[in-house]
Amino acid sequence: MSAIRLDVTTASGSYPVIVGAGALDSLGQLMDEGGLGSDRVIVSSPRVWALHGARCSRLVGRRRREPVLVGDGERSKTVQTVGRVYEALITGGADRATVIVALGGGVIGDLVGFAAATYLRGVRLVHLPTTLLAQVDSAIGGKVGVNHALGKNLIGAFHPPSLVVADPLVLSTLPRREFRAGVYEVVKYGVIADPDLFDRVRARRAALFAQDPTELEAVVAASCRIKAEVVSDDERESGRRRILNFGHTIGHALEAVTEYRRFRHGEAVAYGMLAAAAIGMRRGVTPKAVGAAIAEIIVALGPLPPVSDLGISEVIAATGRDKKRVSGTLHFVAATRLGGTSELTNVSNREMRQALKDIGLRR
Ligand SMILES: NC(=O)c1ccc[n+]([C@@H]2O[C@H](COP(=O)([O-])OP(=O)(O)OC[C@H]3O[C@@H](n4cnc5c(N)ncnc54)[C@H](O)[C@@H]3O)[C@@H](O)[C@H]2O)c1
Ligand SMILES: [Zn+2]
Repeated sequence: MSAIRLDVTTASGSYPVIVGAGALDSLGQLMDEGGLGSDRVIVSSPRVWALHGARCSRLVGRRRREPVLVGDGERSKTVQTVGRVYEALITGGADRATVIVALGGGVIGDLVGFAAATYLRGVRLVHLPTTLLAQVDSAIGGKVGVNHALGKNLIGAFHPPSLVVADPLVLSTLPRREFRAGVYEVVKYGVIADPDLFDRVRARRAALFAQDPTELEAVVAASCRIKAEVVSDDERESGRRRILNFGHTIGHALEAVTEYRRFRHGEAVAYGMLAAAAIGMRRGVTPKAVGAAIAEIIVALGPLPPVSDLGISEVIAATGRDKKRVSGTLHFVAATRLGGTSELTNVSNREMRQALKDIGLRR
């Protein structure tokens, strides 16, 4: 197995992110090397377990625990589901030495991570992300949490994992739309920090979607490297981590006004990046060629759900409720070139209105 190892530093130490086609087959060894106990419990969803559980069978520690399976729809990302994980841990006699292994997409990673952060005031956690989004984004950085009926991701914690193993081979079973949604986040990394990655997606889109292992591994590793670097610098999002929000201010608002039903997260971010490019170009901070390159790649990647029926004022109001606002000001990330950003403060409602029209909102 050829694998790439990246290290993420946190306030309390550092953890490795292993990216490699086939890396999951060495999971037991990787955990042994990391001193990650011999009592391990996997938490996954029925669907992901049925598809990929067998590959983790070598993991079983001394206690041969049964996997804990919970739903992984966004609607399952609740304190109630976390409660079911606690129950399985308690009845199974999990103690402070038990390592919790989350196998699944971002929903599983976030909710199982929250269980690990809080069970016995925190036990060790390993992420085995199985969606492209989870591999390049949610498994790295230590943010864990669940939704509340009144809003998304409102309950949470920082709980960095002890190990992340991203094996692109598991993505072969991912529905194409889920895969594509992850690619938009890859495009985001290209825009904010890595022009080569941007060009790679542009030039080798076909190989990427055909899931050529070399191509996938390169793209996942490049994305993870950026996320790892950014969160290492700034674990709690005071400064540099904000560049990761490129496309997310309006992206989150589009998700919220459609009650998280219409868009996959990455699709909303795709619109958000188009809107950010529109605002940046009007301000003169985003060169026209850069805005055009962003638009071109997003169009080439394929169809996005419609936005023409969405109300502009509702979307703007939703940006105001984004929890990433810092004492009332909206920090808006704009691209200054491929691979560079700057922050715009005081983006006006008028500018947002115009940008939303530019991306196709009509009401
Ligand atoms: N913690 C963070 O920093 C962070 C960052 C970004 C997103 N998130 C969170 O991530 C969540 C979204 O994650 P997601 O996009 O991975 O979606 P998801 O976890 O909902 O997974 C999407 C679907 O894919 C299925 N699936 C997962 N792996 C599969 C595989 N290998 N083959 C076939 N099907 C598979 C799942 O069963 C699910 O139906 C959101 O809740 C979001 O808030 C967290
Ligand atoms: Zn995102």
